Amino acid sequence: MGSISPSTTLDFYSSPHLAEHYDLLCAHEGAFFTDINVFYKELRGVYDRRINHDLAESQPEKKDEYAQSLAVVDVGTGTGRALFELIQRTRTASPPMNLTCAHFLGFDLSPHMVARAARTRDIAAAAIGKLDWRCASALKLDAVLAESGLSDGQVDLLIFADGGFLHLETEAQARQFLSLVARALRARSGRAVLAITNQASVQEGTDLSYHDASGEKVQEYSSVEFPGLVYRNRLAGFHQDGAVQESTYQFEVWRRRKGEEDELVESCWTKLKGRAWSDAEVQALITACPGLKLIETAQPDRLQTFFIVSAES
Ligand SMILES: C[S@@+](CC[C@H](N)C(=O)[O-])C[C@H]1O[C@@H](n2cnc3c(N)ncnc32)[C@H](O)[C@@H]1O
Repeated sequence: MGSISPSTTLDFYSSPHLAEHYDLLCAHEGAFFTDINVFYKELRGVYDRRINHDLAESQPEKKDEYAQSLAVVDVGTGTGRALFELIQRTRTASPPMNLTCAHFLGFDLSPHMVARAARTRDIAAAAIGKLDWRCASALKLDAVLAESGLSDGQVDLLIFADGGFLHLETEAQARQFLSLVARALRARSGRAVLAITNQASVQEGTDLSYHDASGEKVQEYSSVEFPGLVYRNRLAGFHQDGAVQESTYQFEVWRRRKGEEDELVESCWTKLKGRAWSDAEVQALITACPGLKLIETAQPDRLQTFFIVSAES
């Protein structure tokens, strides 16, 4: 099996093959994806608060209806991994959660990631009300919510998973995003969970294998969506400019047929760029954002820090 030099450079998330590759990579990086426990805990919290506090006194007859009409938004949803698993988790909730009128919305900058979410993360509307996938930047949160029929102050839970916040590369972008979150969240009872990747742990490579600093390890995954295709990926370069980091990968797609030599069908460089935010920087940005309050930080593993915030009117 040979290899040829790639001629094109793509963003890490920008083709149907790369979208499936991301899912396969996640499936093999189990250490990273304990995040659903954190998101579920917050979802449970907002659900219970709506039943028990916000409405019980003013409109007791409507409390079930209100609890069921929660709005959950996943920013940078990618292929919908976190939103989908979060919904699955609610099915075994104890006490049970009735989400038959809930609105779940996932949106992402990459049309290829969202298209795969829509293809592969189907959930019967009967169980959860409504599930929307949209293509947009995190910095357009207000517009996405408006298009989806959600007004300011109507989001009960907002998540930005898998260190997605790193794609906000400047302080100005981070400030803009946080002020949109403050506007979006339901006052007091709503929560946002923003995940920051611990870059030192990623580069150390003990818990994650995709960032192999030696550049020698080629990861190979068989496609499920495109039978007969095999993805091969290796870290080809890493560059840091201040806090902004850029990893370059060599990504190849091979066709494998029994008894024949593998045939190379696609070869490209991919770039994964983001800002290595420190916990202290994010905490300072949240604290300085008008209308936003830091409730707590959580660090269930060495790979991520979660900032849990609310909106105060
Ligand atoms: C590390 S992946 C996380 C995907 C998903 N949230 C998960 O947990 O599996 C980061 C995602 O953020 C998306 N992204 C990058 N910049 C973005 C932006 N400015 N607005 C929205 N999404 C963005 C990428 O396309 C990619 O799908």
